[in-house]
Amino acid sequence: MDNQNSHTPKSIHGTWSSRWTFILAATGSAVGLGNIWKFPYIAGENGGGAFVLVYLLCIAIVGIPIMMAEVFLGRNARRNPVNAVEVFTRQSGASHNWRYIGVMGVIAGLLIMSFYSVVAGWALHYVFASISGTFTDISAAGSDAFFGGLLGDPKALLGWHSTFTLMTFIIVASGVSKGLGAVAKYMMPFLFLALAVLLVYGFLAGNFKAGVMFLFTPNFSALTGDSILIAMGHAFFTLSLGMGAIMAYGAYMPSSANIGKTILTVGILDTLVALVAGLAIFPIVFANPTIEVGAGPGLLFVSLPIAFGSMPLGLLIGTLFFALVAVAAWSSAVSLIEPAIAWLIENKGWKRIKAAGIVAGCCWLLGLLTVASFGPLAEFKPAWLLYFTPFDFFDFLTSQIMLPLGGVLIALLVAWKAPAALLQKEFGFKSQKTQTLLLFLLRFVSPTLVLLIMAIKLFETLSQLGA
Ligand code: TRP
Repeated sequence: MDNQNSHTPKSIHGTWSSRWTFILAATGSAVGLGNIWKFPYIAGENGGGAFVLVYLLCIAIVGIPIMMAEVFLGRNARRNPVNAVEVFTRQSGASHNWRYIGVMGVIAGLLIMSFYSVVAGWALHYVFASISGTFTDISAAGSDAFFGGLLGDPKALLGWHSTFTLMTFIIVASGVSKGLGAVAKYMMPFLFLALAVLLVYGFLAGNFKAGVMFLFTPNFSALTGDSILIAMGHAFFTLSLGMGAIMAYGAYMPSSANIGKTILTVGILDTLVALVAGLAIFPIVFANPTIEVGAGPGLLFVSLPIAFGSMPLGLLIGTLFFALVAVAAWSSAVSLIEPAIAWLIENKGWKRIKAAGIVAGCCWLLGLLTVASFGPLAEFKPAWLLYFTPFDFFDFLTSQIMLPLGGVLIALLVAWKAPAALLQKEFGFKSQKTQTLLLFLLRFVSPTLVLLIMAIKLFETLSQLGA
């Protein structure tokens, strides 16, 4: 249709075959453990309603605009995030040092991947547990014990962590359209379907009303500086923002696709999946008094088997569900390491397979620290890890510090430095008002909010230390 961008060179890694492939791939990156595993458990730990509201606000006014800025940088340069930022600094006359945003992003991606694959491994384990009938008529206590048993088995954790890392390696090694595009296209629709089945189950068999009330009745007294920062950090995590994943995918986006509309679609889909996951899980949690809403990382894995164990066709649906969670995690993991790999290919001239192997290998090694966080290192919470286990520390450092900072720097760079002609070329704004709104959000709103929230949390921590 519009060919005003047809001069943009193609990426050497290939291009998505259509706007829809981009939407599916970007949704594949965004929708993952963040939506299905992390969102319910952090909402549970942070009191529900008010936390969810902060999360939704952050998605709408901070996350989606920054996502557009990322895709802008990626498609403009059609390079990996480090080089994309560099190309942009040359076009706009900004300092060369902005490229360190890209470097920080590559590192954040590897850190996230290291623990992401361990949790995705839990889902793989549950596929096999489900298919072998372990969950049939399981009680809440039994389900809790089963999850505890997995965490207490370092060999199993290591095996599944290794399997998942290998699966991710295979996809990224096969390249953009064959590897990344294909997975996204075929798997995403099934995930939506499986969640819908669970939603119906929660409605029929769980305490649906209590679940809805918990998620959507804001109780602002439950909100602390800490929980606001967690909600904001999660907005970045769930949209895959702040480290260049979406920038890397933007580099493979067809020139004719409209960035604004496309990203809005991705953001809405991602949010819907998280909310539906919450609406499926909390009715089950509230129907079983022994499960605590604040149960933490085990919430999904403890609550859902009870549902599968008691529903008709539960064996089949449970197996399918955990397989889909694993696949959703898979298509997200790919985007966590793609920036590093694209960078090694472009800048070091490595073959894709070598780059993918080395990057996946590093993440696997680092992941051993997360595996150990559930065993020998469970009580290892030194001051220099801010009293976190290594697993919790990596999660905190990336979601609550690196991603928001990376995102804000991207927002500032694009909104203050982009030449008007470049903005027009990539965004193709039809109305001046839309452009003004986007620039306003990127220039003022997101940096202020992010820094303010970080300052509140810092202040809260310092005053707790003093107390
Ligand atoms: N968004 C994914 C999820 O919710 C995780 C993810 C993939 C991610 N790529 C990312 C998070 C890049 C941060 C940055 O599961």
